[in-house]
Amino acid sequence: MDVIRPRRLRKDPITREMVRETRLAKSALIYPLFITEGNGIEENIAAMDGQKRYSPDRVEYAVESVIKAGINSILLFGVPEHSHKDESGSEAFNENGALQQAVRKIKTSFPQCNVITDVCLCEYTSHGHCGLLDGREVDNDRTLPILAKVAVSHAQAGADMVAPSDMMDGRVQAIREALDQHHFTNIPIMSYSAKYASSFYGPFREAAGCAPSFGDRKTYQMDYHNQREALRESELDVQEGADILMVKPALAYLDVIARMKDTFDLPLAAYSVSGEYSMIKAAAKAGLIDEAAMVCETTVAIFRAGADMLITYFAPEIAAYITEGRIG
Ligand code: PBG
Repeated sequence: MDVIRPRRLRKDPITREMVRETRLAKSALIYPLFITEGNGIEENIAAMDGQKRYSPDRVEYAVESVIKAGINSILLFGVPEHSHKDESGSEAFNENGALQQAVRKIKTSFPQCNVITDVCLCEYTSHGHCGLLDGREVDNDRTLPILAKVAVSHAQAGADMVAPSDMMDGRVQAIREALDQHHFTNIPIMSYSAKYASSFYGPFREAAGCAPSFGDRKTYQMDYHNQREALRESELDVQEGADILMVKPALAYLDVIARMKDTFDLPLAAYSVSGEYSMIKAAAKAGLIDEAAMVCETTVAIFRAGADMLITYFAPEIAAYITEGRIG
């Protein structure tokens, strides 16, 4: 009897592509952008080679090139000046804040662009924590109405979707109720439902100026020893009205992505965070790896694990690799 040969389906490029189990689309990519206060600012982020902070008057140029690359969804982070930070992060819901201005400008110039805004306080609080403090501890419940106000201010500026990343318990419900009261019943919530306390966020904290001034985020972000806890956290967000769930970071958490995909029927996002980006950039710069090959392989791995969409600083490059037929 002849041997059975699975490799028959790998014999030529056309067949290999036909039997691919994972397909990528540019529409599943989301590009993060940092919005800083001021005018005429377009500054390099030292910890994230190739990424920049833009003031609201410069952001349209950045968005134009992202759209040209074939990316239609962006995720905006606000980076206020030091003098505007306070104990309760009140600049976060300033209707004329840099982020709100940027949203208005982008939606005016590119109405088709899908603008998602990050809802968190850590960039806006003087102490750098994601919520209000009671002594040295985060006061979960007093933080909720503030987060709700922030989300409403983003929707009023024209955001298409809000993405709470603070990890306070009950924030999805608080935000949903506030959005509904303000007649934003059609604005979806992308919840950072399984967000781990991670050293992969290091470069982001430089980019957004949001490192905690004392302690860490381990009381409100998840312990990387745990997988089932991600399901418990996400289940609560589903009950509270989340429209999209998320696993963050991505690459070191592929097991969590796979488990979440099996468990929930909501769309699932993965966030390939700053540390994942900067590691690839640094290793490529040192001549140790091939950047494009590494980006292709890791990106496909995240989709293969089960992500329906991916937030990534490599989004424009990935779009080009898809166009060139390297992946997809
Ligand atoms: C804010 C927030 C962080 C990131 C996204 N939203 C930082 C943190 O939680 O410390 C990290 C994103 C990245 O590293 O690319 N809470």
